[in-house]
Amino acid sequence: MAHLHLRPMTLADLDQVNTIEQTSFPTPWPENAFYHELTQNQAALCWVAEWDEPGQSPIVVADIVIWIILDEAHIATLAVLPEYRGRFIGQRLLARALREASKAGATQALLEVRVTNQAAQKLYRKFGFEVVGIRPGYYQNTQEDALLMTLKPIVADKLALLLEQG
Ligand SMILES: CC(C)(COP(=O)(O)OP(=O)(O)OC[C@H]1O[C@@H](n2cnc3c(N)ncnc32)[C@H](O)[C@@H]1OP(=O)(O)O)[C@@H](O)C(=O)NCCC(=O)NCCS
Repeated sequence: MAHLHLRPMTLADLDQVNTIEQTSFPTPWPENAFYHELTQNQAALCWVAEWDEPGQSPIVVADIVIWIILDEAHIATLAVLPEYRGRFIGQRLLARALREASKAGATQALLEVRVTNQAAQKLYRKFGFEVVGIRPGYYQNTQEDALLMTLKPIVADKLALLLEQG
């Protein structure tokens, strides 16, 4: 049976993480961005989800970066490889990473999401995130607005339930 392994990102994951990024966003992070997060940014919590199927090599199928600034967890990026979406991988990785952020002292979380990105907004609402503002023209290439969403407080019991689904 296939198994999902959630773990911290390593330098060995960078090629696959960049592939996920390129296939997930109209404006992907540049190739060296994840390297920078892993090696230079003390505030960054970088995790991946690895799909492990018997008889096959494990494959990194999702990534997340959260910046922890004092008591705030800022979700900088989250993406799942397109062919692996809809299997609760994004939800479980987000729940696991937020649990780590909470352990590191974060009591609340925030993020920006494209106004047109219904799938991600629905995921975040499931966690209890609420829209608290709009950042006009936040995405420079398309001039699209971002919704600013926050989760206050981060509740460990709720994360545990979300982590178990799927
Ligand atoms: C958003 C994203 C991370 C979701 O990952 P995923 O693994 O496919 O999502 P999950 O299977 O964990 O879904 C969990 C919940 O999210 C919501 N959701 C996810 N995909 C959805 C979709 N296509 N349509 C509607 N709701 C969706 C649902 O509420 C779902 O739970 P439910 O089925 O019980 O209602 C993924 O679609 C993705 O990588 N998108 C491109 C990158 C991106 O937009 N990242 C977010 C940037 S802010």
